[in-house]
Amino acid sequence: MNTIVTNYTTEKADTFIREKLPLLPNSIYRPSYHITAPVGWINDPNGLVYFKGEYHAFYQYYPYGTEWGPMHWGHVKSKDLLIWEHLPVALAPEYEYEKGGCFSGSAVVHHDKLYLIYTGHNEEKSPKEVQCAAVSEDGIHFDKFPAPIIPSLPAQASEDFRDPKVTWRNGKWYLFIGTSYNNRGRLVYYTSENLTNWSYQGIVLEGGAHQGTMWECVDLFSLEDKDVLIYSPMGLMDSKTRYIVGNWNKDGFETLTEGEIDHGTDFYAPQTFEDAKGRRILIGWMNMWEKAMEEKKEGWAGALTLPRELSLLDNHLVMTPVAEWKDAVLKKHPVAVKQENPQVNLEFTHLFFHYKGRSDQDVEWSVTSGQGDAFTLHVDSSKKHIMLNRTGMLAGEKDCLTVPLPEEADQIELEAFIDHSAFELFINHQLTVSLRIYFQETNVVFEQLSPDNETLIYSYE
Ligand code: FRU
Repeated sequence: MNTIVTNYTTEKADTFIREKLPLLPNSIYRPSYHITAPVGWINDPNGLVYFKGEYHAFYQYYPYGTEWGPMHWGHVKSKDLLIWEHLPVALAPEYEYEKGGCFSGSAVVHHDKLYLIYTGHNEEKSPKEVQCAAVSEDGIHFDKFPAPIIPSLPAQASEDFRDPKVTWRNGKWYLFIGTSYNNRGRLVYYTSENLTNWSYQGIVLEGGAHQGTMWECVDLFSLEDKDVLIYSPMGLMDSKTRYIVGNWNKDGFETLTEGEIDHGTDFYAPQTFEDAKGRRILIGWMNMWEKAMEEKKEGWAGALTLPRELSLLDNHLVMTPVAEWKDAVLKKHPVAVKQENPQVNLEFTHLFFHYKGRSDQDVEWSVTSGQGDAFTLHVDSSKKHIMLNRTGMLAGEKDCLTVPLPEEADQIELEAFIDHSAFELFINHQLTVSLRIYFQETNVVFEQLSPDNETLIYSYE
């Protein structure tokens, strides 16, 4: 039997949010289209799923402050992947085994009901992490199962055993979960017929020394004719979220290629799902642990990326914003920034810009509100990289990043979304860069500094 041991409930969280919302200061940083919490802290996206004609996304959530705390699950839904509507908080940490939080997990639809499968975390217990489930008929109110569905650890896992990803495969339910062993990441799995009784099956893959010490937020899915694993490794300085493309069969997981999913500094813990059209869509957390989040001043912290569609290019994982996004943006009339008029004043900080040019040409853009902030991008053709610079945006810190250009490309095509403090860049439909940027006012000047080609700016409401 579950016994309530905390003071947290979903009703208490919803009341707190409703009362706190009107007291927040005016926001200049809050994105319009990227998912953010109404108030408080968010981290990983959870439970991405298509249910009864709508997209649902959940997220790791602590409503009562702008720092991480005992995790709830926040909830939004959308008809079109563009506009998200806030729903009541879905899960609160209540019971002994989840006292420290309802940690990350996934969602599936089974017999017309929506199931959430998550990790119950309690530092004071051993094992500290057990796997739990909750079910809903309306997609809004969830009833937790009477006890954890995986209450103990397999011999092949350590106490770090979290973030279950449940998926339908070969006629049954599979539950993939990340752990660590001998200081290496490891992926293990279970199977089930009914989402309640799970049998342990063994190891899918063991990480090497260059793949971190523990794998958080694993996801394993088929894409085209390959199997793709994504994981968020702990213990790596220069890598945040990685993919492995290969083939998984009875002989094990054969790795063909691997790499970094996103080249920005603010990206972690992504999760994918398959939508009704059969597309594989990814949403990530648009931050990283221990990063400055200027929006804390405004009473909220953290954002999720735009939904991105995944595909393979020469067995490498690549992403583009879902077509809905491009369609919505490209209907607007663009402003051209070119040699004759290299500068435009924009009354907003939500825009999409598009540039195409030769890769042996240098180009530079700057966006600033004139209040000591400047965001610059520089395609450096001799160094074959793009340099992104967020001067004056992170509490006086200079934050500079370089991303190598795709090799052997004659053309450079950039598609960039600036949605207030959320910046996403797509380079040649191959590389992505997620960054948070902070303008001090919503009016900005956009300038193309080495203007050989034109950049088109589309504003969107
Ligand atoms: C990843 C992570 C997960 C965990 C969650 C806790 O960012 O550490 O492994 O479930 O965050 O909020």
